[in-house]
Amino acid sequence: MTDTLTPVLTKNWGAERSWTLDSYQAQGGYDGLRRALTLSPAEVMTEVKDAQLRGRGGAGFPTGLKWSFVPQDNPNPKYLVVNGDESEPGTCKDIPLMMASPHTLVEGVIISSYAINAHTAFIYVRGEVVHPIRRVRQAVKQAYEAGLLGKNILGSGYDLDIIVHAGAGAYICGEETALLNSLEGRRGQPRLRPPFPAVAGLYASPTVINNVESIASVPSILAYGKDWFTSMGTEKSKGFTIYSLSGHVKRPGQYEAPLGITMRELIDLAGGVREGHQLKFFTPGGSSTPILTSEDLDTVMDYEGLAAKGTMLGTKAMQIFDETVSVVRTTRRWVEFYKHESCGKCTPCREGTWWLVQLLAKLEEGKAEEGDVDKLLSVCDDITGKSFCTLAEGAVACVTSAVKHFRSEFEMGYHMPAWQYLPYENSALFTQPVKEVTA
Ligand SMILES: Cc1cc2nc3c(=O)[nH]c(=O)nc-3n(C[C@H](O)[C@H](O)[C@H](O)COP(=O)(O)O)c2cc1C
Ligand code: SF4
Repeated sequence: MTDTLTPVLTKNWGAERSWTLDSYQAQGGYDGLRRALTLSPAEVMTEVKDAQLRGRGGAGFPTGLKWSFVPQDNPNPKYLVVNGDESEPGTCKDIPLMMASPHTLVEGVIISSYAINAHTAFIYVRGEVVHPIRRVRQAVKQAYEAGLLGKNILGSGYDLDIIVHAGAGAYICGEETALLNSLEGRRGQPRLRPPFPAVAGLYASPTVINNVESIASVPSILAYGKDWFTSMGTEKSKGFTIYSLSGHVKRPGQYEAPLGITMRELIDLAGGVREGHQLKFFTPGGSSTPILTSEDLDTVMDYEGLAAKGTMLGTKAMQIFDETVSVVRTTRRWVEFYKHESCGKCTPCREGTWWLVQLLAKLEEGKAEEGDVDKLLSVCDDITGKSFCTLAEGAVACVTSAVKHFRSEFEMGYHMPAWQYLPYENSALFTQPVKEVTA
């Protein structure tokens, strides 16, 4: 554990025209690929496995292990699909990475595809983020022109094509099997598993799906070695990662630090909670991860530390709220998002998120009846473990954890609107119910 920043992925973000090939190569870019091409694909896979890199997209599954599930004796083509859908509320790391240093991702894609014997890779980017899409497309074009993509990469005999695909802006398309459906031109809804994508994924062929940050972490592992990578982090959570801090801190932004830093250290790095205010609650890893309070500030920010607190590291997106914020309003706003983004495939999520929003609206507006908080928890119970994918679990997690920590604030909704007992800043903006967003 250390309390300092460890800029690796973010190292070149401030460089002059950091997104260009020249700038990237001037900082040692593509050295990892050059080393990888001197090894066999199996050796590259072993290096990543031994580095103990865990997926940065939310679940923390070991990346090298996932690659090893691809059946090499399957005659179908193998595919690498990079998940750049980044839509989890508060999460802001993959998009800045693609914007500032798209070649880090492109280099990671080439090395990772080589390791699993894929000759076609897809980068699926959230459709609304037009600039990062242009940057990644331009980086792919530059890589082709420099012989880093296409046929016989750097004279190694290895061929790879990369296709950059813009999604149409649905949170559920970040779920890996919904993403595959979307790539195939189908409705973006999750698939039943098994079969798992490693066996039958894109076009029913073996497919590895990894987060942008996971793949972007691979070049440095190849360039500097597994021992360098495992020298950072904690016993089971190795390496560095990008934490995104937003909300009531003085300097919101991306902070790259080793896994195992504490929340208190991260908030200090961000200049602390804004002047004259105190921390009330925060998400450790996006709105799908149960919230924590100021009592949890010394929690170690790694997969195990947060699991011990009944929450998750998720996307490492910390949304920080001070005492001026209504937890009821915040929860309502989050659940409105999940209701809107529910793909509608299964009833508990489709109907349940709708009911949660109705109850939360009543609780915020002071129109709730005695017992509505229990009713809220009962609806959560009807959703948990009964839905098809984990979007619904995320919708429930923010509600149940908020009620656990702030039940009395929810119960105030039996008597008066939230803006009356906790005057909102800019109350004119907030006293009107939030409008439903329609496509
Ligand atoms: C509703 C939902 C949205 C998700 N959105 C993303 C996303 O935007 N980016 C991402 O990498 N993973 C997302 N995931 C997780 C993916 O399903 C998958 O676990 C991840 O891409 C695997 O990559 P990793 O092993 O490198 O972490 C989402 C999952 C769910 C249930
Ligand atoms: S849980 Fe929600 S998002 Fe997931 S399949 Fe069911 S309806 Fe769709």
